[in-house]
Amino acid sequence: MTTPDLRALLRAPEQVPSTASAPPTAATPTMPASGAPATPAMPAMPAMPASGVPAAPAEVPTTPPAEVPGLPTTAQPGVFSPESARKDVPILHRTVNGQPLVWLDNGATTQKPRQVIEAVSAYYSAANSNIHRGAHTMAREATELYEAGRTAVAQFLGAPSPDTIMFVRGTTEAVNLVAQSWGRAHLGPGDDILVPVLEHHSNIVPWQLIAEETRARVVPVPLTPDGEIDQDAYADLLSARTQMVVVSQASNVLGTVPPVREMTALAHRYGAKVLVDGAQAVAHMPVDVQALGADFYAFSGHKLFAPTGIGALYATPGAMAEMRPWQGGGNMIESVSFERTTFAAMPHMMEAGTGHISGVVGLLAAIDWLRGFDQQAVAAYEEALMSYAMQAMATVPGLEVIGSAAQRIAVMTFTLAGHDPASVADWLDKDGIAVRAGHHCAQPALAHYGLESAARASFALYNTSGEVDQLVASLRRLQQAGQGAEGA
Ligand code: ALA
Repeated sequence: MTTPDLRALLRAPEQVPSTASAPPTAATPTMPASGAPATPAMPAMPAMPASGVPAAPAEVPTTPPAEVPGLPTTAQPGVFSPESARKDVPILHRTVNGQPLVWLDNGATTQKPRQVIEAVSAYYSAANSNIHRGAHTMAREATELYEAGRTAVAQFLGAPSPDTIMFVRGTTEAVNLVAQSWGRAHLGPGDDILVPVLEHHSNIVPWQLIAEETRARVVPVPLTPDGEIDQDAYADLLSARTQMVVVSQASNVLGTVPPVREMTALAHRYGAKVLVDGAQAVAHMPVDVQALGADFYAFSGHKLFAPTGIGALYATPGAMAEMRPWQGGGNMIESVSFERTTFAAMPHMMEAGTGHISGVVGLLAAIDWLRGFDQQAVAAYEEALMSYAMQAMATVPGLEVIGSAAQRIAVMTFTLAGHDPASVADWLDKDGIAVRAGHHCAQPALAHYGLESAARASFALYNTSGEVDQLVASLRRLQQAGQGAEGA
């Protein structure tokens, strides 16, 4: 199918809500004659300098610690500049507690470029319709947009065809879908599901639930002291009983990037299927599901600069052929009678009910936005930023980063001697710095280090070395101000 041009679709005058009798409001953004949707009205921002660029807080040093080399922040040929992404993301220019926002909670969710915000707003302003039903123009247009999103996801993941992509709410729903639709049909007593200890709860609990139901076993794959998946133990645990191996392409708490391709190849020798959780990977490295050899690959849009509530699940045609419906309803059937109901072809059989159409439009815009940058250059920039952050954080007395895998993404989970993680996050918040504190939905991974809780700074392409400096300066001030005062 041809990919519809969202802008062209949205600029067609007959699709634009009339503003003749009602002045434009936040709910009815205008469409300029150029065809580009107008910037939607944003909620009121905290006070900003006239330039729109927040001033650096007086007490935060803008130079990195002396022992850490600097990073380029300006555009150079072949070098990604974070400013080229930052300029598109309005929320990064707000203040929090009187300080410029430093968003280091990208592992929890990423911030949205205006291209995504505008696409969703424009969709609702000019193109909203249900899809796959209704013989009218707007239903056809909305369907084209939705299917263009499927095509964009397939291309983004290196999948062979849009028909291998199912839309879901996010990674959690994708894993539950596989556990229910594939697992219920294939798992039984004596079967093993191998789950590395570093997995997110969303890649553990759905397997525990289906294992309980089918009397299969969830078998943890241990970690090395560095936070790598113990590959020898993994090889030993694989057997003819293994039906499923699950693995995150990047850990949300340790940052570990396991050798997924090798693990997948080994699992396939035993006839096991492999599900790869790409939630923490998709925004940080080019993904090729076919090169990985994954049978299933899941990700969440909101960690890829797209709206919440939309994500995708890739499955190979072979894996799809083994899936049974998991939710019944409209859209997923071919015909229904009380005598016999037949189902739609995949991937639609897995998409009962009305999907998150505007979410798909936002996801399409997010993928377009991210693909506008050189993916290899972005990955190289994030790697350099991570090295810089690791070195800078090592200069904070009493700070320990959890996990030291050789291959990792820019996720730094840490403890600070003398301070509990929640109070560290509180302190940083007062300086406008957002980090997560808690168990990070990965209690077994933290337990591997004897911890119940930790703080975490997680980075994305729009973060800068200057923000690392602000994080480090704030942590140093905390150490100086409250040695032991807040309880270990
Ligand atoms: N899984 C998300 C995180 O790691 C919510 O923060």
